[in-house]
Amino acid sequence: MAHTCVLIPGDGIGPEVARAARKVVDASGADVTWVEHLAGASAVEQGHDSVLPKATVDAIREHGVALKGPCTTPIGGGYTSVNVALRKKLDLYGAVRPVRNLDGVKTRFDDVDIVVVRENTEGLYSGIENEITDGVVTSLKVATERACSRISEFAFQYARERDRRKITVFHKANIMKLSDGMFINSARAISESYPDIEYDERIIDAGCMRLVQDPEDFDIILCENLYGDVLSDLCAGLVGGLGCTPGANHGIEQSVFEAVHGSAPDIAGKGIANPLALIMSSVMMLNHLHRLHQDENARDAAVRIREAYDACLKDGETTGDLGGSLSTDGFADALVKRMG
Ligand code: NAI
Repeated sequence: MAHTCVLIPGDGIGPEVARAARKVVDASGADVTWVEHLAGASAVEQGHDSVLPKATVDAIREHGVALKGPCTTPIGGGYTSVNVALRKKLDLYGAVRPVRNLDGVKTRFDDVDIVVVRENTEGLYSGIENEITDGVVTSLKVATERACSRISEFAFQYARERDRRKITVFHKANIMKLSDGMFINSARAISESYPDIEYDERIIDAGCMRLVQDPEDFDIILCENLYGDVLSDLCAGLVGGLGCTPGANHGIEQSVFEAVHGSAPDIAGKGIANPLALIMSSVMMLNHLHRLHQDENARDAAVRIREAYDACLKDGETTGDLGGSLSTDGFADALVKRMG
C-alpha cells in the first residue's frame, strides 16, 4: 500500500538526521512518498512569516502523518515554540516516548522497557502567563476533565493493544489538589474499565527516585505535560541518552513522529549527529501505518529497520555519542547494507 508522508527536516542537525532517516525508510521496502515542508528557524530564514507555515500544517492535515526533525524556535522576536504550536494546532494530545535497553549500548540497567505517555496540550504549557505587577508574574497550570480523561483512555488503550501490564501515574496531587487531583481522578475512573491492566500512582518526587533505583518496576508512565517532558529525558538517560529515544505525538486524525532530542546546534553541520532516534521514530511511523491500514508491508519494513539497527548497535557500528566512529550518513549506510 502506498503512503504519502510529510517530512519536516527542521533546524540544526535536523536536515542531517532527516536525510539519514529518509534514506533508511526508502531502503526498507516501505512504499512511502515524501512531501517536504519547512518548520522552525529555517522556515523564517527562507522567507516565511512564521516558524510554522500554514502550508506545513495543511500538508500534515491532508496526509495525516509526518516525520519531523527537531526545530529551533528563534529566541526573541515573539515567536512561539514550533512544537507547542504544532501540537495545539493539530490537537496532538497524546505523546508517546518509548525507552528500552539496546544491545551494545552500555547503561547502568539491563531491563528497562518503559513507555512515557504524556498529555501534550495543557498543564503549564498552556502559555498563559501574566505580569501581575512589577517583579511578580504568574504562569497558569490548566487542567480540563476532557483532556485528563482522553489521555488516560489513550494510555489504557495503548497498553491493551500492545499487551503492556501496568500503568503508573506520576503526579503531585498532594500539593496541586485541583489540577493534579483531576488528573489522577480521571485516570482512576478510566482504569475501572481496564481490569486487565494494573494501575498504580506515585508522587512524582518519590517516583523519580524509584525510577532511577529500580526502573524495571515501571511499564507505562502516564503524566501531564511538564512532568512528561522532564520524565522522558530522564528515561532517555536510563537507556543511553537522547540519541536513541524516539517519540510520537498523536491526535484524532494526525500523528507526528519525532525524536525526543533537539536541534543540537553545538554539533550541527559536522556530520556526527546520531540519526538513530529519528530512525526509531520512523519505525514507530511505519507501525502506525500498519495499524491504521492493516498494511503488512509497512510492518515488515519496520521490522527490517529495527533488526538492522539492533544488529549494528550490537556490533558497535554506531555514531560517536554511543562509542562508535560512524558519521550520520555512515550509520544510515550501515543500516541500508544490513537490510540488503
Ligand atoms: P538538544 O537535545 O538539542 O541537545 C542536548 C545535547 O545532546 C547536546 O549536547 C547535543 O549535542 C546532544 N544531542 C542531541 N541530539 C543528539 C544526536 N542526535 N546525536 C548526538 N548528540 C545529540 O537540546 P538543547 O541544546 O536543549 O536544545 C537545542 C535546541 O533544540 C533549542 O532551540 C530547543 O528549543 C530545540 N529543541 C527542539 C525540540 C524539537 O523540535 N522536538 C526538542 C527539544 C529541543
